[in-house]
Amino acid sequence: MIKNSSLKLIKYFNLINYNLIYNNKAINRYKKEKFELSEDQAESLNLLKKSILNLKNCDLKNQAKNIVFNDGNPKSNIMLIGEAPGANEDLEGLPFVGRAGQLLDKMLSAINLDRQKVYISNIINYRPPDNRRPTEDEIKRYLPFITKHIEIIKPRILVLLGSTAMNALIGKDNVISKMRGKWIEKQFGTCKTSVIITFHPAFLMRQPAQKKLAWIDLKMIRDKKTNLKI
Ligand code: URA
Repeated sequence: MIKNSSLKLIKYFNLINYNLIYNNKAINRYKKEKFELSEDQAESLNLLKKSILNLKNCDLKNQAKNIVFNDGNPKSNIMLIGEAPGANEDLEGLPFVGRAGQLLDKMLSAINLDRQKVYISNIINYRPPDNRRPTEDEIKRYLPFITKHIEIIKPRILVLLGSTAMNALIGKDNVISKMRGKWIEKQFGTCKTSVIITFHPAFLMRQPAQKKLAWIDLKMIRDKKTNLKI
């Protein structure tokens, strides 16, 4: 008799294994549901986007094709933050639409979430050339924007994907192997939220053995969501 938790683990691995097609239906990223935002929130998001678009003397911005601002549901209680757009994201102007994004969709799906149920952004809104890591100066420049973004969305759960997001928002001296899989209560401006750090999907593609730990983190998010009744 296989235990329920083992069955769930098998289902998760089937879902996130990059070589397995778990569902033949293509994800339609263009079918946006209408989210009834308050006027305040809609205006704040517009102003924030405008202020990023108006950045002067930013090499990242000057070399990128598009701003990558957000995806998902701005009314969601769950916000995910990655590092920076890659080539596909730069082309489409949406976060996590390349291979790492496909894995992220599968990870979300393993805990019954999808892009219509969460909100997604990045620390940096423009693609760093050759997908290099953003520099300290670049992170410093974009930090006020992502902090404001968190304040506007006011998530109850904030998921930081990878060490760049963790170091930018929690502190430079942290190591992801020690910090992942824990809840940290944190205040960003006026927004008090429960933060969890987990591995970036691109890292999980390089280190598939770590998917086991990512599953623990995902279950923590699922359980927190249940406990908060959100
Ligand atoms: N990696 C990220 O951190 N963000 C994206 O949007 C895509 C890949």
